[in-house]
Amino acid sequence: MPIALTVNGEEFTLDIEDDTPLLWALRDEVGLKGTKFGCGAGLCGACTVHMNGTPLRSCSTPVSMVAGQSITTIEGLPEKGRLHVLQQAWIDHGVPQCGYCQSGQIMTAAHLLATNASPSDDDIIAAMSGNLCRCGTYSKIFAAVQSVVARNGIERGAETGIVTVVNSPEV
Ligand code: FES
Repeated sequence: MPIALTVNGEEFTLDIEDDTPLLWALRDEVGLKGTKFGCGAGLCGACTVHMNGTPLRSCSTPVSMVAGQSITTIEGLPEKGRLHVLQQAWIDHGVPQCGYCQSGQIMTAAHLLATNASPSDDDIIAAMSGNLCRCGTYSKIFAAVQSVVARNGIERGAETGIVTVVNSPEV
C-alpha cells in the first residue's frame, strides 16, 4: 500500500512494503544517503533522524509507523542554504574521522539544543551517550556541541545584557 510521508518538508508517496525500515525508504526510495546503517538494531545511533522533531532510529522503525509524519534527515538541517550551526561547529572542530556515525550524532545534538538551549556538560554527555563512534571522536563532539551552547549564551547575553561564560573543554 502506498505510504505518504513528509521528508525535509517535501511530501512523498512511496510504493513500498509496510515493514521496510524507514532507513531504507529514505536511502533507496527518497534518495537521501546521509543517514547511515550501522548496527541495524537500534543500538548505535548512526541512523538517527527526527520524526516531528524527536530523534528516531530509522533502522528499526517500519516505514508504516511513520506514515503521515514529518521526517527530518541530516540533509534537512541547513536553512536557506546555510549549514546548521552544529554542522558548522563539526567542521570548525574537525570532529569527523571516518565520519560514518556523524550525521546521527548531529541529529541527536540538534534535538538536544532544540529542547534545551543551555544544556550543562552532564546534559550534553547524557544526550549524546546513545550515539556510538568507533573512531572515538567523543571529546570533539562534546567540544563542538559546547561551542554552540556557548555561542548561544553569548547571543542571548547580547540581547539581555547577561552573559554566561562556558569553559571550553580540553580536546
Ligand atoms: Fe540504527 Fe545502529 S543503525 S541504531
